[in-house]
Amino acid sequence: DWTPGHVVDELVVAIREQVGEDRVLCALSGGVDSSVAAALVQKAVGDQLTCVFVDHGLLREGEAEQVEKDFVEATGVDLVVVDARERFLDALAGVTDPETKRKIIGEHFIRVFEQAARDVVHDRGDEEHPVKWLVQGTLYPDVVESGGGEGAANIKSHHNVGGLPDDLQFSLIEPLRTLFKDEVRQVGLELGVPEVIVWRQPFPGPGLGIRIIGAVDAERLAVLRRADAIAREELTRAGLDRDIWQCPVVLLADVRSVGVQGDGRTYGHPVVLRPVASEDAMTADWARVPYDVLATISTRITNEVEEVNRVVLDVTSKPPGTIEWE
Ligand code: XMP
Repeated sequence: DWTPGHVVDELVVAIREQVGEDRVLCALSGGVDSSVAAALVQKAVGDQLTCVFVDHGLLREGEAEQVEKDFVEATGVDLVVVDARERFLDALAGVTDPETKRKIIGEHFIRVFEQAARDVVHDRGDEEHPVKWLVQGTLYPDVVESGGGEGAANIKSHHNVGGLPDDLQFSLIEPLRTLFKDEVRQVGLELGVPEVIVWRQPFPGPGLGIRIIGAVDAERLAVLRRADAIAREELTRAGLDRDIWQCPVVLLADVRSVGVQGDGRTYGHPVVLRPVASEDAMTADWARVPYDVLATISTRITNEVEEVNRVVLDVTSKPPGTIEWE
């Protein structure tokens, strides 16, 4: 009988056997997979695990707190938070090209994580119990996709953390590699991982950095964060958050249009709602969100986010449009 309880019990035993007395490191992103993997390893080996969360400042409203506070409270993990927000803002200043943004965010992320990993190895490990393992939230479909074999999966997993330098040699521990996404969610609930994390929709690693069309700065991030929070809140209130694959909210930061708000003329920015239905993100259809839900989102965003005076809906499928705008 498949029950999340049985799966947790079995995986906990297997992790304990694999890890022994060694110390374990995990990069937490706030996403479902890394969070459930971390919670599972925490249940198995407790304080032998240290999680590292790099706050690049490109997360949505509440997400850093969900990791730093709610996840830690629910699981008791030993968490190292690296506040790298300024570093990323500085690195992204004035950059508008999408691929350049992605490259900058990816490279800085690796460098910040590497340094944090070195610090953890130094601070937490000792000769008898070195930091030897790195947790990866690899799922069964990832294993199949990368060829099924041990080696093939490792290449992809390593690729996920960006390839660590030679002086940081970890063995991978992939406790979710026999599970599908819906099973991972059930295991997460069984482990007490907060529901907002368990049910989180896919969110790209470069975060809001690739949902601001134009250069990224703190003010623009604040505007997008507020608009995005409203859209998510209303989609959740309408009971649509688990039906819709994801709904990026995109700020057209270099576009202005004329509007009228209160008793004045405005010259504000548009935001784009991009709700999509999908099975696997390879293809997608634009999601038919009911008009009254769209109306509520639009009214609230233009009322509550001063800088935004227009809300538009993206009705493009993938292909030809990708889900994200950059
Ligand atoms: P696109 O925009 O290519 O996105 O249709 C497909 C899916 O992948 C997500 N995405 C990313 N996820 N790092 C990630 O972890 C990334 O750089 C990245 N870019 C896009 C996107 O949100 C969608 O679910």
